[in-house]
Amino acid sequence: MTAQLNPRGDVAVLVAAAGSGVRLGPGGPKALRLLGGEPLLVHAVRRIAAAPSVGAVVIAAPPDDVDAVAALLTPIAPVIVVAGGAHRQESVGAALAAVPPDLPFVLVHDAARALAPPDLFEAVAAALRAGASAVIPVLPVVDTIKEVGPDEEVRGTVDRSRLRAVQTPQGFRREVLAAAHAAAVDPLTDDAGLAEKLGVRVDCVPGSDHALKITRPFDLALAAHLLSSGA
Ligand code: CTP
Ligand code: MG
Repeated sequence: MTAQLNPRGDVAVLVAAAGSGVRLGPGGPKALRLLGGEPLLVHAVRRIAAAPSVGAVVIAAPPDDVDAVAALLTPIAPVIVVAGGAHRQESVGAALAAVPPDLPFVLVHDAARALAPPDLFEAVAAALRAGASAVIPVLPVVDTIKEVGPDEEVRGTVDRSRLRAVQTPQGFRREVLAAAHAAAVDPLTDDAGLAEKLGVRVDCVPGSDHALKITRPFDLALAAHLLSSGA
């Protein structure tokens, strides 16, 4: 049975799911690769639909798989599926154009962060409701970071205490995300980066280890372990 989204939810979640997953190795589009027997996108949408703030979900799917993705997700939650673009930013833009009216907040999420928990969506939504214009989940950086030159020679050591690793879902007041995308020139991998270029203040909330981005085979193995441990 399809889970219903909360009719009083004030958040639309856009899911960027149109990538090909080159770094994961040979196989189909990453969002459709299996984790514990189910596509990454199914795991992601199940967690999104369990967040009470969510009133709409828009998926940017691989252009050849729009119908297949709609059929796959219909049993999970009511979703809108659009064709993604050549870059992530284009995919997010296509999904943004399909957000139903009247939802004041938009969260942008990567299907590749398939295990991001419902609480993380709630934390980002709560910060927006409390008045933030743009919100990103972050984790402290654990490794020492070096800046290097063209021949991999070390130029310096960066002060780690002021660095954060950024995850999704990234949240925005709807008009802020629309303005950021309208003004975008170079494709960025990060929506908050577009908002920063407009001078919008971006606030941080604590991220989640479970929101890791599944990029390489090792990440998929780690996610499988997390899933089997109850994530
Ligand atoms: N994405 C997208 N449209 C694109 C490219 C990426 O919607 N044209 C999405 C991916 O589906 C993913 C997220 O953006 O959920 C983050 O991108 P990444 O982890 O780089 O995924 P891929 O581009 O699929 O992987 P790779 O770069 O290894 O090919
Ligand atoms: Mg990519």
